[in-house]
Amino acid sequence: MDEKIALIDTVKGEFADELIYNIAKVVDPKKIDIVISNHTELDHSGSLARLMHRIGQDKPVYCSKMGLKSLSRHFRQKLNFQPVENGQEMSIGQRTLSFLETRMVHWPDSMFTYLKEQRILFSSDGFGQHYAGHEKFDDEVGEAIMPHAKKYFANILMLYAPLILKLVEKVTGMGLEIDMICPDHGVCWRKDPAKIIDAYVRWSNQESKEKAIILYDTMWHSTEMMANQIAAGLSAEGVDVRPMYLRKWHRSDIMTEVLDAKAVVIGSPTLNNGLFPTLADILTYMKGLKPKNKIGAAFGSYGWSGEAVKIIEKELIAMKFEIIEPGIRVQYVPESEHLDTCYAFGQKIGKAIMG
Ligand code: FEO
Repeated sequence: MDEKIALIDTVKGEFADELIYNIAKVVDPKKIDIVISNHTELDHSGSLARLMHRIGQDKPVYCSKMGLKSLSRHFRQKLNFQPVENGQEMSIGQRTLSFLETRMVHWPDSMFTYLKEQRILFSSDGFGQHYAGHEKFDDEVGEAIMPHAKKYFANILMLYAPLILKLVEKVTGMGLEIDMICPDHGVCWRKDPAKIIDAYVRWSNQESKEKAIILYDTMWHSTEMMANQIAAGLSAEGVDVRPMYLRKWHRSDIMTEVLDAKAVVIGSPTLNNGLFPTLADILTYMKGLKPKNKIGAAFGSYGWSGEAVKIIEKELIAMKFEIIEPGIRVQYVPESEHLDTCYAFGQKIGKAIMG
């Protein structure tokens, strides 16, 4: 709030009333002079039309050039969209806002707004979390906020990691001093903004730990028996191993674990000459997020045809995972010799991880 009053971004459409009510506790919404839309996705702009109706349809809505295109496709009302250039500055009185295009982090329209005098970066999705609590700042949550930030990165931003590294480089090069980062959802980073920026660099580089994930599903426990022995073999080599039964874990939790795992070992029974459906789900999701620098391996039980392991390997190769051991499969129910093979399989992968 200055000589001009600016509102940066809105909320999902169904929370428009709540947003207007909250604004009204601070200022009469009609007194808002300008609105800035950093991102079109509807968790950020869903209330825009309702809000503009309330504060004045003719008030300017500043957005990126790509934002003009996407906002116009989402809102058919005649709104006064004003595209800004990358680096453009705007005075609102004693304070200056500047705009930084962040194309494809994570939509073409995405941009950040920087409040120069107070050194606040309004970062839209960047550095955000899917976290809603009574806390507004990182220090109010403490270390417990980092797993939320990591989960957000793994599921929303992982595939844009190369662009994020370039963006961090650009921001560092500009000498932008940042005292606070305010994403549109989740808590704001005021205690140590550099901490989340450093974490983004680490996650974008996909630095891995000595850790393996075993993702599997099972029909009659045979693939599960294999998974347990592979886990034991990995563990014997000192690897932090996490077996994840696909019917118990949400795909977003799985990707959070994949982010810093060195190996992803995937097991499926063969069903109707193909994968078990939960495996098809996670492989599709994982492939889209483009994890990098991973060792991959496949295993599974089968009855008579046994295609699943080959299908998994094909997917692992498509994701450019390094396959150090050919996949293993067991017909019907594993016997002790098969379980020994699974254990040894786990050990070989473990040695490669600890290598
Ligand atoms: Fe790109 Fe928070 O939505």
